[in-house]
Amino acid sequence: MTPKTAKAAGRELGIPPIRLGINIDHVATLRNARGGRHPDPLRAAELAVEAGADNITAHLREDRRHITDADIARLRANLTVPLNMEMAATPEMLAIALKTKPQAACLVPEKRTERTTEGGLDVAGQHDLLAPVVAALGDAGIHVSLFIAPELPQIEVSARLRAPAIEIHVGPWCEALAEGRRQEAEAEWRRIVEGARAAHDLGLEVHAGHGLDYATAAIISGVPEIVELNIGHYLVGEAVFSGLYETVSHMRAVMDRAREALRQSDTQAKVGGR
Ligand code: PXP
Repeated sequence: MTPKTAKAAGRELGIPPIRLGINIDHVATLRNARGGRHPDPLRAAELAVEAGADNITAHLREDRRHITDADIARLRANLTVPLNMEMAATPEMLAIALKTKPQAACLVPEKRTERTTEGGLDVAGQHDLLAPVVAALGDAGIHVSLFIAPELPQIEVSARLRAPAIEIHVGPWCEALAEGRRQEAEAEWRRIVEGARAAHDLGLEVHAGHGLDYATAAIISGVPEIVELNIGHYLVGEAVFSGLYETVSHMRAVMDRAREALRQSDTQAKVGGR
């Protein structure tokens, strides 16, 4: 079944389709390693859309270690699918979001020293800090999601904050599975499934993300309440393997063609000189 017919069949059975959000932060990380323009996160985003991504996610961090303000502006201006801006709930990020108006914003916790988003947002403990941010984004027509652990208090406060969506942090489940900690993985899985159901029953749209690969994305796509996955690290890493053969072959051909042209002109010059 093609993805389109699978989506249609699911709809007939009352099962919503599942959206794929591609996080392109690592493309910007790679670009920033040299400080130039290559590889361009917008080009990567457009390719991802061509390949079937439903939306593009980019995290504008306080330290701008990967995505920059200019990236967010270019993505917003050029993408044909929704842009989901991951952001900390700070006055600076709120001002940028309200100016740029991405179609969606995912509020995440942020620590300067972390390599990536570590835990979920403590919405239960930060209700008063988050309430005006969620309200301001919502008033601007931005679809807000809250990145949280699948814990009932976090889910209930998310609903009370009137955020339309949550994104369940599935990182601990993915890590436990990858490291063979079976009991922990099973416990995390139960939390995800029960959390997704509880959130759905409270009227929240349920997304999931962090640490997903092909295998875990396939498993989690079997949870009917989850309607969006956001995936980055694994896909950018895998793209190295699925794309390296083609790019090295191309470089080989470019060099060989140039050398062959040199030989031809050299031969002609010698023949002409005789
Ligand atoms: N969702 C959120 C809220 C994230 O912070 C991240 C990482 O930036 C992702 C999804 C994507 O996670 P990964 O890069 O591990 O696929």
